[in-house]
Amino acid sequence: MALTQEEINHIQSQASIVDVIGSYINLEKKGKNYFGLCPFHDDHAPSLSVSEDKKIYTCFVCGHTGNVFSFVQDIENVSFIEAVKIVAERNGIDVNIDLKNTTKYDKYYEAYDIAIKYYQNNIRSKDGKEALEYLHKRGLNDEIIKEFDIGFASKTNDTLTKLLINKGYSEKELIDIGLSNKGTTMYDLFRNRVIFPIHDSKGHPVALSGRIYEKSDEAKYINTKETQVFKKGEILFNYHRAINEAKKMKKLVLVEGYMDAIRIYSEGIKNVCATMGTALTSEHVKLLKKINVEIVLCFDNDQAGEKATIAAGDILDKAGLNITVLRLSGEKDPDEYILANGVDKYKEAIDHSISFFDFKLNVLKKNKDFNKVDDVSAYVNSVINELNKSNDQVLIDLTINKLSSEYGIDKNILLNKVIKVEDTKVLEVVSKPKVKKEKSIRLIELLLFYMMNDIKYIKVYEKELSYINDDKYQLICDEILAFYLKYNYINIADFISYEVDKDFYENILDIIDNNINEELSDREFMAIIDKIKHINDENKINELKEKLKNTTDINEKLKLTDEIAKLKKRDV
Ligand code: UTP
Ligand code: MN
Repeated sequence: MALTQEEINHIQSQASIVDVIGSYINLEKKGKNYFGLCPFHDDHAPSLSVSEDKKIYTCFVCGHTGNVFSFVQDIENVSFIEAVKIVAERNGIDVNIDLKNTTKYDKYYEAYDIAIKYYQNNIRSKDGKEALEYLHKRGLNDEIIKEFDIGFASKTNDTLTKLLINKGYSEKELIDIGLSNKGTTMYDLFRNRVIFPIHDSKGHPVALSGRIYEKSDEAKYINTKETQVFKKGEILFNYHRAINEAKKMKKLVLVEGYMDAIRIYSEGIKNVCATMGTALTSEHVKLLKKINVEIVLCFDNDQAGEKATIAAGDILDKAGLNITVLRLSGEKDPDEYILANGVDKYKEAIDHSISFFDFKLNVLKKNKDFNKVDDVSAYVNSVINELNKSNDQVLIDLTINKLSSEYGIDKNILLNKVIKVEDTKVLEVVSKPKVKKEKSIRLIELLLFYMMNDIKYIKVYEKELSYINDDKYQLICDEILAFYLKYNYINIADFISYEVDKDFYENILDIIDNNINEELSDREFMAIIDKIKHINDENKINELKEKLKNTTDINEKLKLTDEIAKLKKRDV
């Protein structure tokens, strides 16, 4: 049985967020709130703040914010409903949650489960003999085959389809799920291939990849098509197995291929996952940010791998992750490297991975003849270009010194080419709309924060203001009002577990993050309302003035002047 929002809210209201979070990390009381080391990034000073009365937490450094459920979800790596169950049980609340029937995607997971088991059986059958031999020849022993649930789809046309139809799946479902297709009749998507299961970040089986194992003109791998639960750009192969070890080792190795990840993992380096040959997306970055440890990029040893390393490194660098690069020489990819040189050599290589910046310098140096002035100049300019993307003053200084001494260039000439960090900061501030706008946003965020806390503030808002002069914040405000209308009360912790659009969920967390330590006071709230009113009026006046400038109709002009005067009067 799925729980209603009311039941979920009840569980939350009964649970002590301080007790629950305190069972994972040490919390210390300071003032009204509790503080501890944030488990979602490599924290050295307590940056996680937990509020018992608001029933939320936030990390001032990595920005991780949420309620008791999101904390349990992320620390235990479980689904929302599993987190609700854990919290309920810890607090002695009786709930009847059948985890089997709780998500709309269960049909997918269940079908993939069946398929995986079926294909696993096949690889032990007579039909699977050659496929199994192929895996053995590649150095995958039975233990690894079992650990990764590797299987075999035989040459038959529709055995899996029939099996699933017998279990109650409709033809349409099987096509949606991505295991079957329809020609004149229904047929299995995977035929005569070695099967690798793919899981999402929570460990649900969501897709398969089938590899050829004999000489063939067909594509090396075919993967499940994009479905509701499988988007290649949102999944990293082996992520769910790698998380804990990555956190422990404070490092995650990122490779391109299934076989690379499987090899590295099975040799005992369990903090590894793979991009499955696609470019790194912002969704991948989110997954990696969640672990927030050093990422060792170890892509294939070819031109494409080098390009992919630069592209991935740039994205991850921007996201603030610490990246190092490991370029292997000799063998084509990490799998072959380990087979040829042994895992110890590979471990050593990981320990000697270089910074992303040094890697980029190495790439820039390639194919240049440093006896030629043109090549030196091209190199130096491209390095400066890279430095101008960086905010790291130490890195800039060290690099300039090195360039100066290595190529005998006057340091000042180089320094003049570098845009100083202070300059870029000034540029940023200048290019932001208006200081005034900033202040008004701050006020609006405070207003919304109050409204998330208590319906009395919602009532004042409705009476005194009733709109916000910013579309993004108006949407959040509408969500707050919708929650209030529906449940006739509000608090932050329940509000954020209420289903809101993913896009502005981030904005809501941002508001909470910025204001969690605010003490609510009615007087301050009224002052905020007044200030926002004033800003609204000013905006309105400017709008009217603009209209006034553009109209030639005398009656219209009189009307506008009148309106402006009224607004001005109200503001004194
Ligand atoms: P690779 O060709 O490097 O594959 O492609 P691999 O993992 O090293 O496999 P082996 O060693 O040849 O068996 C890297 C990744 O790109 C995706 C797969 O995820 C693969 O692991 N890929 C590659 C496909 O999806 N389809 C293809 O046809 C080829
Ligand atoms: Mn390979």
